[in-house]
Amino acid sequence: MLKNARFLMSNSDHTKCPAPTKPEFAFIGRSNVGKSSLINMLTDNKNLAKTSGRPGKTQLINHFEIDSRWFMVDLPGYGFAKANKKLKAEWNKMIRNYLTERENLVSVFILIDSRLSPQPIDIEFINWCGQLELPVTIIFTKADKQSQTKTSEHVHRFLDEMDKMFVEAPDFFVTSATTRVGRDELTKFIEENVSE
Ligand code: GTP
Ligand code: MG
Repeated sequence: MLKNARFLMSNSDHTKCPAPTKPEFAFIGRSNVGKSSLINMLTDNKNLAKTSGRPGKTQLINHFEIDSRWFMVDLPGYGFAKANKKLKAEWNKMIRNYLTERENLVSVFILIDSRLSPQPIDIEFINWCGQLELPVTIIFTKADKQSQTKTSEHVHRFLDEMDKMFVEAPDFFVTSATTRVGRDELTKFIEENVSE
């Protein structure tokens, strides 16, 4: 599993994405949270998805095909403060159209920075996904950046917020693109959901 990853195409319009013939897993979250880095970590390819220290790097819907069996999608981040209003509105529309219309979506991985206490923008976005009954999974990122105690404190605070929102709390994973923590667990989760 996860042996052969290849880039397929980038789109600003969800209707032009590859035909929805394979199970699809999308990565979304605030700009700079580590979406592209996580994709590279999972596929063991530093250069597959473009990453950057500056937020706002990924600007389109990027499709990758894994082992000819499933699609992995790198999306632009939300909440990028420096983008102008018009651009922000366009990205918002692009992401929301994609998420609501894409019929082969198996999981929406929402990435959360494990260094932060629960952020309203993330809670709001997850709430929006929940109302649409999208298949949400939470992924905490950058766990290498602080002690396990701190990570665990933030994770629990975030999960408390999820409890207020969902009858059945979403699955979650704690990851680091640097130390590769969480890789096996997340890969297993994807593999199980691909073959369902
Ligand atoms: P946009 O495309 O701008 O929305 O950002 P993104 O969410 O794709 O983030 P990206 O993967 O480009 O990473 C942003 C920055 O965080 C880069 O400098 C990465 O090297 C760093 N980063 C990402 N994941 C980790 C991690 O697990 N640990 C550490 N230490 N740094 C990370
Ligand atoms: Mg990116």
